[in-house]
Amino acid sequence: MKNPLARGAYLAILAVAGSVLALAGCTNLQHSRDWSNENVPGTVLVQQVCSTCHGIDGQSVNTLFPKLAGQQKEYILSQLESIQNRDRNSEHTRQFMWGPARYLTSKQMDEIAEYFSSQPPMKAGRGSALASTRGQTIYYEGIPEAGVDACASCHEDKGQGDGVVPRVAGQHQYYLNHRARIAMALILANASDADIAAVSAYMESIGEGGATPQVVKASVDKSKSKAKIGKVLDASTAPGPAVFDAKGDPKTCHYSVWTYGWYCGSFVDALVYHLKNQ
Ligand code: HEC
Ligand code: HEC
Repeated sequence: MKNPLARGAYLAILAVAGSVLALAGCTNLQHSRDWSNENVPGTVLVQQVCSTCHGIDGQSVNTLFPKLAGQQKEYILSQLESIQNRDRNSEHTRQFMWGPARYLTSKQMDEIAEYFSSQPPMKAGRGSALASTRGQTIYYEGIPEAGVDACASCHEDKGQGDGVVPRVAGQHQYYLNHRARIAMALILANASDADIAAVSAYMESIGEGGATPQVVKASVDKSKSKAKIGKVLDASTAPGPAVFDAKGDPKTCHYSVWTYGWYCGSFVDALVYHLKNQ
């Protein structure tokens, strides 16, 4: 490169190429589908990855995919954590969610949870057509003869949820019905399939634009259930007990309504811890 002019031109080209590359890099970050890149903002992942199944506004269409619109922020965070550390381990979770959740950083999780929880709440949908007075009765009064507590005592009067207790109003009937025996195994142990289907339909029907919840306040024994979830809600703000994994690294623990015990890392850990400490 003897000619100084040519050298200058060459450097200028390099500089331009450099800034184009830098811009391209920046653009990619804003359009990235890269699950494993910690620099991609949570809201970009929402657009590029999560919206495929959950909808850009969290109003998913396919009833296999839960709506996330207006879902409780703490609940979204607690699920993303338990999906990432594989405590949430059902077939559908493994199949569809272990991939997308695998590399999320806590910053990305927080941005995603903030985004979905701020969207207008879930709309009532097709499953509402199955709603019945039986479903409504179970929601507000439980099934006393089967030892099933009123759902409203934790999921709240209008199904809006509370912290780590999820919003259920407007959620797909199909999804709720499927998840009920997994997420609420203890509470629903003696409920029939027909009753679970009925209450799931009722919950979908009280979403936005759907039926007005006919709250039966007198029959909801909140104090009894609150005594149970009191611990759950406390645990979401207070740090869990100090538990260490095989490498000696501390783990974050959560209180679980599945076992009514601390849930640290794996289900087995949780049971062992629970049995030792009860
Ligand atoms: C291929 C489809 C698909 C993609 C992509 C996807 N999800 Fe999911 N997601 C699902 C399914 C299916 C479930 C329900 C799994 C089950 O039944 O346990 C789910 C469940 C969830 C839940 C739990 C909701 C609840 O009510 O318990 C959260 C939170 C969630 N997804 C967030 C995300 C986020 C954040 C992303 C993007 C990083 C994402 N999902 C990408 C299909 C998907
Ligand atoms: C003691 C409090 C409590 C009561 C009573 C209760 N729930 Fe729940 N429910 C919860 C909590 C907490 C979760 C989240 C569990 C988790 O994090 O795995 C949940 C989760 C669920 C889910 C999963 C939602 C999702 O988005 O995946 C369904 C479905 C559900 N409950 C249905 C019911 C029904 C139906 C009743 C009444 C018959 C009921 N629950 C009563 C506390 C309660």
